[in-house]
Amino acid sequence: MAINIAVDGPAASGKSSLAKALAQKLGYMYLGTGELYRAVGYYMVKNYPQGYKIEDVIASLKNINIQLQFHNGTQNVILNGKAVSAFLDEDDISMAASQVSKIKEVRDFLLDLQRDLAKNNNIVMDGRDIGTVILPNAQVKFFLTASPEVRATRRYNQLKEANKKADYNEILANIIERDKNDTTRELAPLKKADDAIELDNTAYDFNTNLEHMYKLFSEKDVVE
Ligand code: DC
Repeated sequence: MAINIAVDGPAASGKSSLAKALAQKLGYMYLGTGELYRAVGYYMVKNYPQGYKIEDVIASLKNINIQLQFHNGTQNVILNGKAVSAFLDEDDISMAASQVSKIKEVRDFLLDLQRDLAKNNNIVMDGRDIGTVILPNAQVKFFLTASPEVRATRRYNQLKEANKKADYNEILANIIERDKNDTTRELAPLKKADDAIELDNTAYDFNTNLEHMYKLFSEKDVVE
């Protein structure tokens, strides 16, 4: 049986970079599931520039084909034949992803892709509902948290480093709004699985967090 590690947590909690680094350290595959919802959000933003309703999203699913490619540990989402990962990081796409992820048909649409990958590969998968819904039998589950202010600061620094436009107050407001959407939605809301290890990483740097996760995983004595 493949080894599955679930990493859930709110927006900008550091889960993607930590999950990716943990996967690399273990020689496992990494999947950031947020990009799948972002790809659906991207499709909607591009095809409905005037705005869209839930029915439009559901009707669009038949026109959306999502595939994944992996290259040196980096994933690329292929949306209708086009590599789109490089375009999924913008704030309007984040918000669209948060909106479309509330829709049952969208979650069902993306379910098999995630489960099939986990069935056949040792994998670290991050998202909001990996430990609770997608991989309830994952051998190890982490739930990462950090204060909204620390998350906004990290996101602000990331954007600055990438020479992108960044406004701290806007980022903080966006994070707080997404937290609200993600935790209060009816379907697969962001919440800690009963058997997940909760790690509040507000006070720690990246390497300390990574080593901590690695140690906790090693202590679990998981066998393939
Ligand atoms: O992890 P992220 O910020 O890239 O995720 C973008 C949005 O997708 C997030 O606001 C909620 C949604 N999402 C989800 O509902 N379930 C997941 N497993 C991953 C992301």
